[in-house]
Amino acid sequence: MKSRVAVIGAGPSGMAQLRAFKSAADKGADIPEIVCFEKQSDWGGLWNYTWRTGLDEHGDPVHGSMYRYLWSNGPKECLEFADYTFEEHFGRPIGSYPPRAVLWDYIKGRVEKSGVRQWVRFNSPVRMVTFSDTTKKFTVTAHDRTNDVTYSEEFDNVVVASGHFSVPNVPYFEGFSTFNGRILHSHDFRDAMEFRDKDILIIGRSYSAEDIGSQCYKYGAKSITSSYRSKPMGFKWPDNWKEVPLLQKVVGKTAHFKDGSTRDVDAIILCTGYLHS
Ligand SMILES: Cc1cc2nc3c(=O)[nH]c(=O)nc-3n(C[C@H](O)[C@H](O)[C@H](O)COP(=O)(O)OP(=O)(O)OC[C@H]3O[C@@H](n4cnc5c(N)ncnc54)[C@H](O)[C@@H]3O)c2cc1C
Ligand SMILES: NC(=O)c1ccc[n+]([C@@H]2O[C@H](COP(=O)([O-])OP(=O)(O)OC[C@H]3O[C@@H](n4cnc5c(N)ncnc54)[C@H](OP(=O)(O)O)[C@@H]3O)[C@@H](O)[C@H]2O)c1
Repeated sequence: MKSRVAVIGAGPSGMAQLRAFKSAADKGADIPEIVCFEKQSDWGGLWNYTWRTGLDEHGDPVHGSMYRYLWSNGPKECLEFADYTFEEHFGRPIGSYPPRAVLWDYIKGRVEKSGVRQWVRFNSPVRMVTFSDTTKKFTVTAHDRTNDVTYSEEFDNVVVASGHFSVPNVPYFEGFSTFNGRILHSHDFRDAMEFRDKDILIIGRSYSAEDIGSQCYKYGAKSITSSYRSKPMGFKWPDNWKEVPLLQKVVGKTAHFKDGSTRDVDAIILCTGYLHS
């Protein structure tokens, strides 16, 4: 019997697996049967933008952590597929830091040509994987959300490509439960326009803190205060952006920091990273 491989997730990593198996088959290799389980209704993983936050249309946790106006924070030259260049996809040179939608288009373009979409079962979150020492096989239990049926199938190998940046790390600070404004994690940040004319407090000092703070600045936030735990980002910020040590507590709308300074804020965005990352 032909061996079977399950791929969990059709983000860039899962799609790369599908494409690699297809390339091998095109070169004459006898490849296993491939089944890719994808919980979302389309492929592309995080690059497949969703406006949803909280739960998806089926009641499962939303995977997406990207926002509408996200641009690549690394040069495209560093993430180009060796066998499918940006120039081949777009038919002309493009800038080094493309917006999210452009990268999604490129990631999809490479696999659309290879005809592997038929291997993907969309709207199919995997619920559990077990391994039997007796049969030496994996049992993958998936939920077919379209027909609302949960079923199990056996596989010889499982590739886990379910991503690292979807389960938010949400620390608690004293006074959060009585804060008179909005508190959200960067996982749920979608559109900086929401924070126009508002005083924003950002917790964290990494990529999300820098980029979401910059987006809020660009789209008209009144002020940005970013609070760091270990050390400041240390960039030359605009006049209405201040970096302060770690938040200690909030009282009403007033945030108190480790250096004794205070700031009244309308919203707190926790750019505190992800569990399992
Ligand atoms: C805000 C943000 C911005 C980023 N910006 C950049 C950038 O500019 N440049 C860059 O190179 N990288 C960036 N990244 C990193 C990003 O993680 C990678 O670019 C890429 O998306 C990783 O691909 P992946 O396939 O490993 O994971 P993901 O893209 O997360 O895809 C995982 C897939 O698995 C599916 N899945 C999850 N659980 C299950 C399950 N139980 N059953 C079935 N399917 C499941 C998901 O629905 C998803 O489609 C960014 C990350 C974040 C959070
Ligand atoms: N394309 C883009 O523009 C873009 C935008 C956003 C994110 N991303 C990507 O998304 C991924 C995740 O980045 P991220 O910035 O969300 O996560 P991250 O890099 O893991 O950073 C998490 C931050 O949270 C801080 N933190 C964690 N727990 C804290 C606590 N209890 N109190 C205070 N601070 C706390 C950490 O502080 P310490 O430093 O002190 O530990 C760190 O600064 C990265 O791959 C990044 O490239 C890309």
